Amino acid sequence: MPASEFSVNNYREAAQFIRGRARHQPEIAVILGSGLGDFVNALEDFTIIPFKEVPGYVHSQVIGHSNRLVIGTLEGKPLLVQQGRVHFYEGWTMGQVAFPIRVMHELGVKTLVITNAAGGLNKGYEAGDLMLIHDHINLLGMTGQNPLMGPNEDHYGERFPAMNTAYDRELRALTRKVAAERGLTLREGVYVGLSGPAFETPAEIKMLRIMGADAVGMSTVNEVVVARHCGMRVLGFSGISNICIDDPDADLEATHQEVLDVGTQKIVPGLISLLRGVIAVL
Ligand code: HPA
Repeated sequence: MPASEFSVNNYREAAQFIRGRARHQPEIAVILGSGLGDFVNALEDFTIIPFKEVPGYVHSQVIGHSNRLVIGTLEGKPLLVQQGRVHFYEGWTMGQVAFPIRVMHELGVKTLVITNAAGGLNKGYEAGDLMLIHDHINLLGMTGQNPLMGPNEDHYGERFPAMNTAYDRELRALTRKVAAERGLTLREGVYVGLSGPAFETPAEIKMLRIMGADAVGMSTVNEVVVARHCGMRVLGFSGISNICIDDPDADLEATHQEVLDVGTQKIVPGLISLLRGVIAVL
């Protein structure tokens, strides 16, 4: 089902509920992917709102997703942090997956920082790397699953939103500068979004590399499409939680536990430092 299964009133109702609980009115939102939830420990003066209390929100059964909104400050700036997300592979509709984005828009969010855990396709990457997303391949969208399908919701944006500018050029330049100042290693590349939940086969991994992807995951692209449709600026990061195994005879297997462990231990500290620097000057 397309995003149009909801009306503007549904998004507004959720936004009104959140506004009534929060002490801040953030213009910046951060979505935290698998294993990256500990980022919220950097927030101050925060309010926690479980997804299940917000009208219209559904919650994820996936381990590593806390299903909460944490609204506080970072470097003195009001920030709405979505700790966890729901995924298409859990059986939620595209509209449900992207619901929180339009709620953020109704709340006045202008900039979305979106993160995910991803498998490293680029042979130069290591588990624990942080990749700045400069473009994506929406394989789900290309195969007929796009959250904007159905009647266009003119209140949010136009029928055919541009995607060549999806990942904001100025925000990427700022992020590179902050990473250099802080001595943080930052990769940069293309994220490919698949539905999951099965990890990729070696042949699929080789195919995705040929397509030009550097990292692969099961989220993000739908949220970015909806965020761009309603005019938000987007800054995206993939935490490289594992290196994709492209040898059918390898002994190793990709596991969700590895995704969580690498995220928490290796990726979150750098992500906090980087976002502190970026958000301070936004
Ligand atoms: N493939 C797809 N999604 C992922 C991966 C992966 O290897 N790692 C974390 N999310």
